[in-house]
Amino acid sequence: MIKDDLKKILITESQIIERCKQLGKQLDKEIAHMRAPVTFVGILKGSVPFMAELIKHIESDIEIDFMAVSSYQGTESLGDIKIIKDLDHSIVDRDLVLVEDIVDTGITIKQLKKLLYNKGAHDVKVVTLLDKPSRRKVDVEADYTGFEVENEFVVGFGLDYNQKYRNLPYVGVLKEELY
Ligand code: IMP
Ligand code: MG
Repeated sequence: MIKDDLKKILITESQIIERCKQLGKQLDKEIAHMRAPVTFVGILKGSVPFMAELIKHIESDIEIDFMAVSSYQGTESLGDIKIIKDLDHSIVDRDLVLVEDIVDTGITIKQLKKLLYNKGAHDVKVVTLLDKPSRRKVDVEADYTGFEVENEFVVGFGLDYNQKYRNLPYVGVLKEELY
């Protein structure tokens, strides 16, 4: 069982659900001032469980769409990101909520926001399940954060280690010998 690979659980399933309820309420208030219908843009694949839980607690009229990106090989710097799977629908003049699993260095969401504005988005807010503020390399913050985590590699609830552990229903840390 994949759960046997964990050293500890950091955030339980019920804590995640409870936090998604709170974030849903906050986002509904924000969305009331945004252009309807707002599109929630999930970044594949890590955001899938978070997107699924979060939108259950949104009462506003929203749409969802997904994109997949990768950073160019060898650039941990401010290199551009490459679109692996683009959005299905036009976002020109639309208001968006970008849904991420984790903000680490911040490079991904900084580049993604730039890309979405270049594609014509009117406003882009960011919601992330997790934030590792101590790892930030660029000046960017999520508008809404589920939980802050220490500088420790985490898996579960969408987050992977070599594509594994995304299906764990909670967030945890792997046993040292597995990294
Ligand atoms: P950033 O561009 O450095 O902010 O990186 C964000 C991406 O790195 C996330 O979308 C994750 O895919 C990955 N990532 C960063 N930290 C972790 C972690 O602790 N566990 C799993 N993936 C992570
Ligand atoms: Mg990711």
